[in-house]
Amino acid sequence: MLRSVQSASKSSKFAIRNYASTSNPERKVTVLGAAGGIGQPLSMLMKLNPLVSTLSLYDLAGTPGVAADCSHINTRAQVFGYAEDKELGKALEGSDVVIIPAGVPRKPGMTRDDLFNINAGIVKNLCTAVAKYCPNALVNMISNPVNSTVPIASEVFKKAGTYDPKRLFGVTTLDVVRAKTFYATKAGLPVEEVNVPVVGGHAGITILPLFSQAHPQANLSESDIEKLTKRTQDGGTEVVEAKAGKGSATLSMAYAGAIFADACLKGLNGVPDVVECSFVESNVTELPFFASKVRLGKNGVEEIYGLGTLSDYEQKGLEALKVELKASIEKGIEFARKNN
Ligand code: NAD
Ligand code: LMR
Repeated sequence: MLRSVQSASKSSKFAIRNYASTSNPERKVTVLGAAGGIGQPLSMLMKLNPLVSTLSLYDLAGTPGVAADCSHINTRAQVFGYAEDKELGKALEGSDVVIIPAGVPRKPGMTRDDLFNINAGIVKNLCTAVAKYCPNALVNMISNPVNSTVPIASEVFKKAGTYDPKRLFGVTTLDVVRAKTFYATKAGLPVEEVNVPVVGGHAGITILPLFSQAHPQANLSESDIEKLTKRTQDGGTEVVEAKAGKGSATLSMAYAGAIFADACLKGLNGVPDVVECSFVESNVTELPFFASKVRLGKNGVEEIYGLGTLSDYEQKGLEALKVELKASIEKGIEFARKNN
């Protein structure tokens, strides 16, 4: 058996060549914001994913340490750490999937939209680099407010002439993860057997879990469904308050981000029937972006599924969320156009 060979060229770069021989194709995944609360556990989970052959970790600082640490895990991916603007191009070159959890998190009392002023600029700059260095990558946007950062990314890519709506995703998997957990607990079902689609967007009432389409179906009262809906919508705030000023969901988000990135990689590799909910450019409603179930394939989004039959309660929720979601989308588009 070959031995691991460590090569570190410059101080901020770190590579471990593991002795991977696998039938999975070479895939490079880049995490932007890799030294953060989400970035670190997400980087570790991507290092554990056998579909990843190169894991590129970028942040403003701290990435050499995170990369060195991750690189000792005896799995397939070679890990590279990059820090500072000047290394962003190298971090991105050749990426198949770029995951973006860069930006500031909420503190108690803030909405996700309160993050807009800082995170919009961060996302715009990072997406400008994505357009330049890896225009074909699938972009998994985690930075909040997702309802605005995805439209910002789309405008940046349009301006660069690289926009492909099939390759841009707002990551809403954490809403699905929460809906599954809360539903399974209430219904007394094994959580690993539960599925719940969540549609709309990723903030407050724009998060619309469709418990009427949950599998398996449990006999829950209307009042239970309303409580589960509210808890799913407020799941992020529940964590922000519990962390009491020390940020928002990081561990559950890393888990959710790893599930979604894995689905993207499976789709790229030609695995059939890979379906996840995601906030994408969409014709499912009159809004230009909307989260619903999407099938992932070799080009990213292969198919966007409609909403199916909604309960009266869900139908009302759908109508109610459109005003806020539309405004958040327009805010993102306007920001990107003004700051062109
Ligand atoms: P954090 O502050 O712990 O980490 C953010 C990281 O981003 C930091 O390491 C910081 O250095 C880095 N960063 C900032 N600007 C950067 C830039 N220009 N280039 C590269 N890196 C940069 O925050 P966190 O808890 O990891 O949260 C990150 C973002 O994810 C927040 O906006 C948060 O609201 C969002 N979030 C989204 C979801 C979701 O479901 N989509 C869930 C949880 C958190
Ligand atoms: C979440 O849903 O946990 C994230 O969007 C972070 C937040 O601010 O709530």
